[in-house]
Amino acid sequence: MRLDDLLFSQGFGTRRQCTGRVQLGQVALEGAVCTDPARDVDPEGLAFSVEGEPWVWQERAYLMLHKPAGYECSHRPGAWPSVYTLLPAPLRRRPGAGKLNGVQAVGRLDQDTTGLLLLSDDGAFIHRMNSPRRHVPKVYEVTLKHPMDEAQCGRLTAGVRLDDEPRPVRAAAAERVAERHLRLTLTEGKYHQVKRMVAAVGNRVEALHRSRIGALELTPDLAPGRWRWLSPQDLAALAPVA
Ligand code: URA
Repeated sequence: MRLDDLLFSQGFGTRRQCTGRVQLGQVALEGAVCTDPARDVDPEGLAFSVEGEPWVWQERAYLMLHKPAGYECSHRPGAWPSVYTLLPAPLRRRPGAGKLNGVQAVGRLDQDTTGLLLLSDDGAFIHRMNSPRRHVPKVYEVTLKHPMDEAQCGRLTAGVRLDDEPRPVRAAAAERVAERHLRLTLTEGKYHQVKRMVAAVGNRVEALHRSRIGALELTPDLAPGRWRWLSPQDLAALAPVA
């Protein structure tokens, strides 16, 4: 693959901009500056840097972000900044197949919800993870306004009525970790689902944090606002659902 094509595939601008970047000496391959845009490179596992920023070629991007509160999962947010501004520009510009451009969030979290958010530019992966038929379990740590009793907790797994849902909506699991701390596992992704379910049993969500998707946990070393690539082990942990 030509070096400028490789840069283009990773989101470093238009083809022309990528050619220019190489000619200007902004790109180093395995530590050595290369100014030939036509240089033939093997992309598999290639380590390169652009303006001193290290990158490794990835055919498709799979990443996790520790979403902080105060960010919207939208490219065109209303009142709050977009989660996409927490990512480096090339991840937002990677040319995608079909309509996808750049990485997209796998489902959405509310502005005030924190925790694990997956992003990818692989449309099939996003579709599989979001498909209601796959029942991918998502675990939420819920801080409650009032203490939750066993009866309320039981109603969450037995099923509660939400206004616009024709059938009762159930949690796959509900565990009282402490008086005001509930661990809720959902296999669907309905609008404001946790908040509405908790309200339906007469309580209220004070804070919401997603700690896990499938077998993949948010790693404690990832501070709010930080992202990292998913490792082959992470992808394997998602494999039963992905
Ligand atoms: N349920 C909610 O109510 N909000 C979220 O952000 C996620 C699940």
